[in-house]
Parts: sequence; C-alpha cells; structure tokens
Amino acid sequence: MYANDALNGSTILITGGGTGLGRAMAERFAGVGAAVAVLGRREDPLAETVAAIQSAGGTAAYAAGADVRDPASLEAAVASLEEEVGPINGLVNNAAGNFLCASEDLSANAFNSVVQIVLYGTFHATQALGRRWIERGSGGVMLNISTTYAWTGSSFVLPSACAKAGVLAMTRSLAVEWATYGIRANAIAPGPIPTEGAFSRLMPPGAVEAHAKQRIPLGRLGTREELADLATFLMSPMASWITGEVVTIDGGEVLKAGGEFNGFTDHPREQFKAALASMRPSK
Ligand code: HXC
Repeated sequence: MYANDALNGSTILITGGGTGLGRAMAERFAGVGAAVAVLGRREDPLAETVAAIQSAGGTAAYAAGADVRDPASLEAAVASLEEEVGPINGLVNNAAGNFLCASEDLSANAFNSVVQIVLYGTFHATQALGRRWIERGSGGVMLNISTTYAWTGSSFVLPSACAKAGVLAMTRSLAVEWATYGIRANAIAPGPIPTEGAFSRLMPPGAVEAHAKQRIPLGRLGTREELADLATFLMSPMASWITGEVVTIDGGEVLKAGGEFNGFTDHPREQFKAALASMRPSK
C-alpha cells in the first residue's frame, strides 16, 4: 500500500517494541524506510526484533533496555540511542500492562503497576522526546496507543481504563500545546488484536472466536499488520495536518455495542426481514 520510502528520514522510538503490536509497528516502519529503535524491559525480545528487521533488509534497527516507569532509565536510554542513531524524531507510546481483575480485589500495587506503565510511562517518554524536539526546534511526531474503552471505561480492567483515558487526554492536550513547536500528537484506539502479551491476560482460552463473531460487525479480530499500516500513515508526512486525532480500529465493535437496534444484525437477515414484514401495517 505504501511506497517503500514512506518513512524515509524518520527515526522512530517505539516503547514496548520487542513484542506484539510494538514489534509489528517497528517491522512495518523499517520496511518503509524508517530507522527504528525499540525500547523495553526485556533484552531478548528486543534483540529478536532487531534481528528480524535486519534480516528483512532494514539495517537501521536499534534496541535499548529501559523501564518506562523509571524516568531516569528512560532518559539514559534515549540519550545513548541518540548517540548511536542520531536525533530521534518520532515516538510511539505503545508499552502497556493490563490484566483482568475484579476491582475490589486489586492491590494498591497492582493498580499502580498498570497506571505507571501506561500513563506515567507515556508521560516520561513523551517528555524525554518532547523536550529535545522543543530545544532543537526540529518538531516531531508522536503516536499514543490507547484503546476503545478509554471513553466508556470497562469492567475488570480498571487501572488500564483509567490510564488509557489519561493517555487520550494527554494526546489532545499536547496536540494543541506543542503544535507551536511543530509537534504532532495522535492516538490509535484498537479493539481486540491477538498478541501473546495481551491475550494471555485478557482473553480466557476458547473465548476468542465467539467474541469476534458476536461483538465485531466485521466478524473477526484485528491483525497486527492492520494496526501497523494505520500507525505508518499517522507517523508519516501523509498525515502532516492531522493532530489531536484518535483513530478507532476495531471492526465496528464499539459502535455495535452502543446502537439500540444493532443486536438485530445477529439474526439471519432474511429471517429478520420476514419479521419486519410481519410488523408492517397492512394496506
Ligand atoms: C491481580 C495482579 C495480576 C492479576 C499482577 N498483579 N497480575 N493482580 N490479577 N492477573 C499484581 C501483582 O500481584 C502485584 O501486586 C502487582 O500487580 C505488580 O505485579 P508484578 O508482576 O510485580 O508487576 P510487573 O512485573 O511490573 O508486571 C506488570 C503487569 C504485567 C502489568 C502486572 O501484566 C505486565 O508486565 N504486562 C505487560 C504486558 C501486557 O500486559 N501487555 C498487554 C497490554 S494490552 P502486589 O500487591 O501483589 O505486589 C492492553 C490493551 C488491551 O493494554 C485492549 C483490548 C481491547
């Protein structure tokens, strides 16, 4: 879909880039000309991602170990990456933590862990890069991975819902505040896309297919490639006048849940139309 130079000139840091959606974005960005740096807590997945990108022909791939909850380790990682790669001009805040738990059973540390990763981690990375972009007068592009329940909230994922709503507020706040510095800030709100990290904690085994068929109008879960394609667009100059936007990618799931009569789409259409016909007043 994209020219293979769509992200030429971009050097993009992806938090949580060693696995799941982060890795898919790193591979996609590298495939269309970006230099990419993946950052995360665990060295092995980062090294595997860099190796995969390099074996696919992308030479400019780098890794840095840091915990986004720790601003000092993040700052050190960004500084050492920039020595190696040169100035970073794109940031994807993708690192996340989440698990299903009844809210009354959450420990303070459990709530804190997720909010620290998702909300504080996004802030720490955003500030580390934003300060550099402002000081250099270079501008920059940032993309935050939120979720569709950032607006509605969701049962059993309270820390994530609170943190992702905060990420959305951060995106919109900075889109305006930092526009004067040539910084764009957008977000993606994905519905369910299978990854090991998320699904092992969020989808009880066996529930996946049924979930997709019942809840998602397009009848299936999303793919990492679809997410990565959208992210590529938003990070590229093709989106140069888009800022403060959040793009939902969920196969229609959220809209279906909200529309009063949408449940009727679950019935065989001809059967439903026959029922409608029987409701029409006779002439
Ligand atoms: C209850 C739990 C728990 C669970 C951990 N805790 N898992 N409590 N139910 N399933 C509690 C622990 O007991 C501990 O509290 C506290 O949380 C911290 O746990 P640690 O294991 O020490 O923390 P840490 O190693 O830092 O792990 C962070 C994590 C973990 C968030 C808990 O799940 C993680 O690293 N996840 C990263 C990968 C991930 O989840 N990605 C998916 C994101 S998907 P105590 O009180 O005992 O010390 C996403 C979008 C979904 O966000 C969108 C769907 C549509």
